[in-house]
Amino acid sequence: MSRSDFNRILVTAALPYANGPVHLGHLAGAYLPSDLFSRYHRLKGHDIVFVCGSDELGVAIMVRARKEGIDPQELVDRYHPMIENAFSAFGMSFDHYGRTTSPVHAETSQEFFRELAGKDVFTLRTEQQLFDPEAGIFLADRFVIGTCPTCGNNNAYGDQCEKCGSTLSPSELVNPRSTLSDATPEMRETTHFYLPLGDFQTRLEEWIATHPEWKPNVLGQVKSWLKEGLKDRAITRDVPWGVPVPEDVAANLGIDASGKVIYVWFDAPIGYISDTKEWAAKTGNPDAWKTYWQQDDTRLVHFIGKDNIVFHCLMFPAMLMAHGGYVLPENVPANEFLNIEGDKLSTSRNWAVWLHEFLESFEPDLLRYALATMLPETKDADFNWNEFQTRVNSELADVLGNFVNRTMTFANRFAGGKVPELKKPDAFDLAVLKQLATFPERIGNAYDSYRNREAVFETMALARLGNKYFNDTEPWHTRKSSPQACANTIHVSLQICAALSVLMEPVLPFSAAKLRDMLNLKGVRSSMPGETNGIGWDDVVKPLLPAGQALGESLILFTKIEDDVIEEQKAKLGNHPDQDSDESAQESLPYHPVNETITYDDFAKLDFRMGTIIEAEALPKSKKLIRTIVDLGFETRQILAGAAEHFEPADLVGRRVAVVANLAPRKMMGLESQGMILMAEDREGSLFLMGSDGENGSIIK
Ligand code: MF3
Ligand code: ZN
Repeated sequence: MSRSDFNRILVTAALPYANGPVHLGHLAGAYLPSDLFSRYHRLKGHDIVFVCGSDELGVAIMVRARKEGIDPQELVDRYHPMIENAFSAFGMSFDHYGRTTSPVHAETSQEFFRELAGKDVFTLRTEQQLFDPEAGIFLADRFVIGTCPTCGNNNAYGDQCEKCGSTLSPSELVNPRSTLSDATPEMRETTHFYLPLGDFQTRLEEWIATHPEWKPNVLGQVKSWLKEGLKDRAITRDVPWGVPVPEDVAANLGIDASGKVIYVWFDAPIGYISDTKEWAAKTGNPDAWKTYWQQDDTRLVHFIGKDNIVFHCLMFPAMLMAHGGYVLPENVPANEFLNIEGDKLSTSRNWAVWLHEFLESFEPDLLRYALATMLPETKDADFNWNEFQTRVNSELADVLGNFVNRTMTFANRFAGGKVPELKKPDAFDLAVLKQLATFPERIGNAYDSYRNREAVFETMALARLGNKYFNDTEPWHTRKSSPQACANTIHVSLQICAALSVLMEPVLPFSAAKLRDMLNLKGVRSSMPGETNGIGWDDVVKPLLPAGQALGESLILFTKIEDDVIEEQKAKLGNHPDQDSDESAQESLPYHPVNETITYDDFAKLDFRMGTIIEAEALPKSKKLIRTIVDLGFETRQILAGAAEHFEPADLVGRRVAVVANLAPRKMMGLESQGMILMAEDREGSLFLMGSDGENGSIIK
């Protein structure tokens, strides 16, 4: 089906997890692109609905709430409005922004689940799973930690070791423990619903083959999943936070549904449907959602980041196929990742730029524009503050702002604040007007084909054309030598400004409205939901301002950003304003893996004793070693300790220490070391002595 055969568009942007604020990485992945696309299509006059909402269920939310010691509901009640407000301030033009804790969503997900169960789509599997006997629940994924069988990392999660990257299942962990209670989990039997993705492999392959036009980064991932062969996926969980598995469905199959919820990656994409239902109810036509989801002349587009590709290109489509009667996405234009100042974005290190904080210092349009020029459309991209400043100062202010400003100034000073008539235009005037008429289609095609960077470069190219035209026609000369030529320059320049005020609307909606006020250009269709009449995208091929029309008040569109403002922003990166930064830095460092297990007999061979350091001196030739004399009660020993980078010798004298007393003597720097002083080295490399109250010579066991 070609794009012009569609009669309506349904746009979704990935539902953000309501467990933290939105940052630039999110915006660059799904949100800005989906908003550019939606605003463009509204200006085209297309029938379009744009939905999103907060992803509030699932284990990630639970884990986060537990960390903060609060209820999951309390957590999402905090972040949902925060995210919604930041989006709105940024200019996200959703027709509806919902949340997956809504009753409509629970009902919609259960209905979907019931339908698939009724069609016998699911398979059931009974398996042994880790159960926390103290907390009384099964431990999914992240609730079990233990030692990674691959690399020995002591804090590997039940689904993944973050140190070596291995994918794990909870039962593979060595010495598993529950993060809920610290109890040792036990194996218990539980039954889960599985979506047999393998059964959909052929249909998915055939469908994907009809979309060779999808972005290469998306097709690449999809094809590699398909090549590996799709596996069954468990779509229920035994956790207390999620949409409950419908009791009737479970009972029919002889399963106890209590404590079972639908897996978050099953319910979340259904959230798009729930959000559309809520939108429809809001508009007073509750069935309208069906038109968008179930009539095959709908163009469905999912905007996401690359970490969501498999769910949107394979799993959700399989669900939709299984259900039947739903449209499949026309495209899933996933973006790659955005780095910050050359480094991987990391929320735990606060290596991120937070939207709500950004908007405290800058107008949303500045970010929309700069970010649109840096979108990771084909590969990972980098946001850096200097480039942001350059985009604002040398493009928005120096090109676009300057063009508008000089045009308005000339119109006010030499055309009485009105649009002068175009009379006897010369070839250059006409050529520029002709060129102007080509921009709507060029910019529009780029937006429509998910090439947002190109669309925004083309938009700025129109402002550049305006500046060049203004320079080349030299109205400051013609003002005296040929007043009509000057008037023509002002006329044509004002028409370019008017065209810009429509064509820049998707990326710079706030400034575009301001510019239209300056031009006194009325009747332009809004790119926000709701309005469908008025001057739109395609009307820009013709001049929009009638001669004689009075202009509005001149304003400055963009102010330049000073260096110190940028430096201040850079300094925020990596800092934790509300937390003890050492502590959080430490939190993100990996723990050293635990060594190979030893037997009790191995341990019994070691002889640890208490001692007191009675002398300590630096060794002039060594940066690391301190020579100590340790009193072990029954004898004194000379021990060389690798502690010079952490302690002054004088500070060691008198300290109680634990010593390995039966270590074979070793020569270092020509001196014999007769044992070893035990010290704790933390993740940042700081050393701590280990003492105890026992008298010198006491056996430590
Ligand atoms: N919350 C998920 C994420 O941030 C995205 C969910 S998209 C949807 O990665 F399909 F589930 F809606
Ligand atoms: Zn590992």
